Amino acid sequence: METLEHEHIIHYTSDDHLVWAELYEINNQNMMKYACKDYIKGFNDLKIPTFKIPTFYELNTILSTCSTWTIVPVSGYLASEDFFKLINRRKFPITQRIRSKNEIEFSELPDIFHDIMGHVPMLNSDVHNLFSKTISDIALQNLDNPIILEKLSNLYWYTFETGLVKENGEIKIFGGAILTSSNEVNNVFKEDTTILPFDAELIMSSSFDNLNVQSTYFILESFDQLSDACKKLSIIYSNSATK
Ligand SMILES: [Fe+2]
Repeated sequence: METLEHEHIIHYTSDDHLVWAELYEINNQNMMKYACKDYIKGFNDLKIPTFKIPTFYELNTILSTCSTWTIVPVSGYLASEDFFKLINRRKFPITQRIRSKNEIEFSELPDIFHDIMGHVPMLNSDVHNLFSKTISDIALQNLDNPIILEKLSNLYWYTFETGLVKENGEIKIFGGAILTSSNEVNNVFKEDTTILPFDAELIMSSSFDNLNVQSTYFILESFDQLSDACKKLSIIYSNSATK
């Protein structure tokens, strides 16, 4: 696993902090305009710095007052089983790297801006707590079953990376990969973008492309729909693990 034992203190340069500030400025307006209510509440609770990259200590201190999650530093992509093992313990992996200035529009590799701004505000929402517990419990019971792990990764991608939810008849975003990319936000609202009703089974058998803007998104009627899906999946896949 790439999780570091302790936070490896990275000495970000002033250019690194400028990249953070520029990303924040570009994306913050979209976040406030298009993010779902749970994201905005979590975001406001966190008081994420605008002009400098926050430290893990700073964010974990705030999280300890409003959440049972902690963030842990990692050096890059995790194998799905390592990701599920961490979130099962309410530890959310955050990449320490910050993208370079010429990757402002898009960074192929994970970076700290995406991981913090895209995911940390939703960490303590009721729906994320239930979802992460459900999928990680299923994963831990099926670590020797790559097909189920892949299905769970697909489900994560089409929800907490690229998921949409209806609020008062409007399309709102809760997926971190959309909220941290203005290109992706614009793509959601293009006329020819395909937005399908949420369907857990369909999503779990749908692969994804994380290197381009999405051709298809899935929208929840409400977070209750995702909670109901979690309860069903829990029954289906827990049974499958004991057979
Ligand atoms: Fe992500």
